[in-house]
Amino acid sequence: MTVLVGYASAHGSTREIAERIAARLAERGVGAETASLDAVGDAGGYDAYVLGSAVHGMAWLPEATGFVHTHRELLAGRPVWIFSVGMPAALRGPWKPMAAKEEPKVTEEVLADLSPRGHAMFSGVVAPEHLPGPGRAVFRAMGLRYGDYRDWEAVDAFADTVAHSLRPAPGSP
Ligand SMILES: Cc1cc2nc3c(=O)[nH]c(=O)nc-3n(C[C@H](O)[C@H](O)[C@H](O)COP(=O)(O)O)c2cc1C
Repeated sequence: MTVLVGYASAHGSTREIAERIAARLAERGVGAETASLDAVGDAGGYDAYVLGSAVHGMAWLPEATGFVHTHRELLAGRPVWIFSVGMPAALRGPWKPMAAKEEPKVTEEVLADLSPRGHAMFSGVVAPEHLPGPGRAVFRAMGLRYGDYRDWEAVDAFADTVAHSLRPAPGSP
């Protein structure tokens, strides 16, 4: 059993989340490989898939939506989980309710091609040098703070769900 933990990452935080998921799967006895979704050699060479992307403009990056669309028939026959890395945890005050509203929008395009077993929405890293000038102005106007918002316990819990589904613990129903 080998799982592809594939990612699309602009500044590295999604890649690191993918690496954490793969490491956790391995700890749970599930073989896993990470690869950038624009550099997967043999897309069909895996038994299951955990696919994730950084979120830009409330959507997955093009290499991630492209991978899912290109391989939709292959993926339809195998277990798939997805995760998105945005910045819901950075939202504060009146902007907080936006977090729940964003998830359906972020996954809309992907869910047209896939029926994943689960989706996790994580928060990543927001740094001023990642945002274009207008983006920085909006961020400041919203009163948000830069930082590393990754919740590694939530990432581990997601990986555990995948591992449990693929390799149920001995004696469990
Ligand atoms: C240009 C740009 C646009 C972004 N747009 C969104 C967005 O629409 N929604 C969101 O939740 N996060 C958004 N983010 C935050 C990123 O998704 C977040 O910083 C994530 O950790 C980036 O992952 P990466 O380090 O793998 O690139 C945006 C970040 C950048 C740089």
